[in-house]
Amino acid sequence: MEQKPVNFTSREDACRWAVMRVRALIAGEKDLITNLANASAAIFEAWKEVSWAGFYLMKEGELVLGPFQGKPACRRIKVGSGVCGTAAATRQTQLVPDVHKFPGHIACDGGSNSEIVVPMIREDKVVAVLDLDSYSFDRYGQPEQEALEKIAQLLIDGCDWEQL
Ligand code: SME
Repeated sequence: MEQKPVNFTSREDACRWAVMRVRALIAGEKDLITNLANASAAIFEAWKEVSWAGFYLMKEGELVLGPFQGKPACRRIKVGSGVCGTAAATRQTQLVPDVHKFPGHIACDGGSNSEIVVPMIREDKVVAVLDLDSYSFDRYGQPEQEALEKIAQLLIDGCDWEQL
């Protein structure tokens, strides 16, 4: 049974809240893992129908699983593979209403039906991706894309990425 402590009247409200919450959670803290862990928890807590929310970190040319909320997931993804690797390779947010139609989608959780992946770019390098899955089709759209891109930028600006 899904239990979410926060209720919102609209998707837009939930999106605004998530951005504000991440901003507040990382204020005065630079530790990368601490901030990514709290950001994934804030999104997972606030938004309905999210089955997984977390980060893959670029290490030695591969995406390596970072802080997340949800079921245990694939540990490493090659740049160019799956939705995460495509976001990293193209540097474009991947909004996928039906993962079964995405060539090369990597099913860490067979129940997943839609996904959004936002690339995180620092000093012209992709340093991470922010990934959300859902068991619902077409769960993510423009409001979520805008919010997640803002959150990604807050984390790019507010964390010590030299720790990577
Ligand atoms: N579905 C992703 C893999 C990561 S999991 O969703 C957590 C992909 O195709 O890259």
